[in-house]
Amino acid sequence: MIGIFDSGIGGLTVVRALMEIVPKAPLVYLGDTARTPYGNKSAATIKANAFEAASFLVKKGARILVIACNTVSSYAAEELEEHFKLPVFEVVGPGVDLALKVSRKLRIGVIGTRATVESQVYPRRILQLNPQAKVFSAACPLLVPLVEEGWLNRPETNRIVKKYLHPLKVKQIDTLILGCTHYPLLKKTIQRKIGMRVTLVDSAHALALRVKAFLEADGRGGLQSGDFCHGDTCVIYVTDDAGQFRETAGLILKKTIPVVRIGI
Ligand code: DGL
Repeated sequence: MIGIFDSGIGGLTVVRALMEIVPKAPLVYLGDTARTPYGNKSAATIKANAFEAASFLVKKGARILVIACNTVSSYAAEELEEHFKLPVFEVVGPGVDLALKVSRKLRIGVIGTRATVESQVYPRRILQLNPQAKVFSAACPLLVPLVEEGWLNRPETNRIVKKYLHPLKVKQIDTLILGCTHYPLLKKTIQRKIGMRVTLVDSAHALALRVKAFLEADGRGGLQSGDFCHGDTCVIYVTDDAGQFRETAGLILKKTIPVVRIGI
């Protein structure tokens, strides 16, 4: 079973990609809605939340962990891997690789939560791989609450996106990394505001391909054949009331999946 987590709804953009690319692998998802957003919290709180979320998934039977959250990927990926001794996939690496592959002028923008941007994880990794690149970052702390609220297509959201993207637009970036798994849900607005010539990078698909390659190369990465199923199996857990979450989850995954509230 693959355990996936995020602070809330955003990680379902990764679940959507996994369902498409490894359709037979059973998935268990945790949206830590009681403590969202993670992106305004300190490194210590982000790590503590990540450990609790991962422990819950491991207790539910996860044998591979997917951190469907850039904020946690920036601060806790290595520690989670060391502690749980399981294969851990994170979202930053696939986004960096994809951006370097598609960028024509190596003028790369990154948007993310305040914590992700402050961690400098994206510029550091991009410049390690290609010191010629120019990286411009912008924190967009209001976007996660707007997405959690289901305000995907409101004029207010569009105005806020425009304001956040302005400093990157004037830098004439040619590629923009969506460095938060909530942002693909605002892809159309982001594309319109940054300009149609800028390539948007969403790491979900690239990450799912890595998981698939791993499952194939490593005799299913420790998953037994009985762990694979023929229909699609996914359970979603949340740490607070499921109201708005359930509705947005249906829109993202285009199907109804049970959403169960738990305490961790
Ligand atoms: N979706 C997450 C990320 O990719 C978390 C955002 C948040 O909770 O602030 O960073």
